[in-house]
Amino acid sequence: MTRRKQVYEGKAKVMFEGPEPGTLVQYFKDDATAFNAQKRGTITGKGVINNRISEYLMLRLAEIGIPTHFVRRLNMREQLVRQVEIIPVEVVIRNVVAGSLAQRFGLEEGTPLPRSIVEYYYKNDKLQDPMISEEHITCFGWATTYDLDDIMQMSLRINDFLLGLFHGIGIKLVDFKVEFGRLYNEHDEMRLVLADEISPDNCRLWDLKTNEKLDKDRFRRDLGRVEEAYQEVARRLGLLTEGTPGDAPGDVRGPTTVQ
Ligand SMILES: Nc1ncnc2c1ncn2[C@@H]1O[C@H](COP(=O)(O)OP(=O)(O)OP(=O)(O)O)[C@@H](O)[C@H]1O
Ligand SMILES: [Mg+2]
Repeated sequence: MTRRKQVYEGKAKVMFEGPEPGTLVQYFKDDATAFNAQKRGTITGKGVINNRISEYLMLRLAEIGIPTHFVRRLNMREQLVRQVEIIPVEVVIRNVVAGSLAQRFGLEEGTPLPRSIVEYYYKNDKLQDPMISEEHITCFGWATTYDLDDIMQMSLRINDFLLGLFHGIGIKLVDFKVEFGRLYNEHDEMRLVLADEISPDNCRLWDLKTNEKLDKDRFRRDLGRVEEAYQEVARRLGLLTEGTPGDAPGDVRGPTTVQ
């Protein structure tokens, strides 16, 4: 960690300069925050698990033609990604009522939505990530209508694919957040790619049968067994093996993460 120049430290990750121009190293921390960082804590082993889960999901999405920033995982907590210009918009895709949707509209958590909802939030901690419309995004120049078309199409494809993937391992994908960025090639042509991470930090994942929460809501709502929930998601995705030798001891509790 000391060799590399730090570019940015966020709440869940640190970004370092990568080995080649145009690349970054994404380091996954165990730090957890909620309610716009009013609540802070640590989830032991979270960084290791999120690194692995995000790698897995980005690779699966790439296979169906979703362009992503992911290059390769470097070690337990780090992955190499392409540096992009992040669009300052958090895209939230919802399949079931939960969280702020339940609060704002007085709806019961767990109610299935008749169709998926895509929402946009302005990525700005000081303003507490206010909800925005396409009009704000185009008017303030954060993205064009063409970009938004692309973002909406990719988001719905990502949602359809992840819904099925999680359903196959007994998990309901209630909602999730993604970020997109601009990537330029040698001819200065731009394309939008999926960036940041997809992990139980930014998805709501409920057990299909029991509705048990297997995501960051366990931390937000003090439900306990937070580490176990993250591990359970990784285990069901087939990313954990019991006691694989050679992994850093104590980095993840219980079963160790496959390298
Ligand atoms: N490929 C990428 N290129 C450049 N920046 C990226 C890339 N992928 C993710 N990022 C940005 O790096 C940061 C990752 O750190 P982290 O997720 O901890 O931030 P955060 O605390 O959520 O803060 P922020 O409000 O800035 O997102 C985010 O700002 C994210 O938008
Ligand atoms: Mg983040």
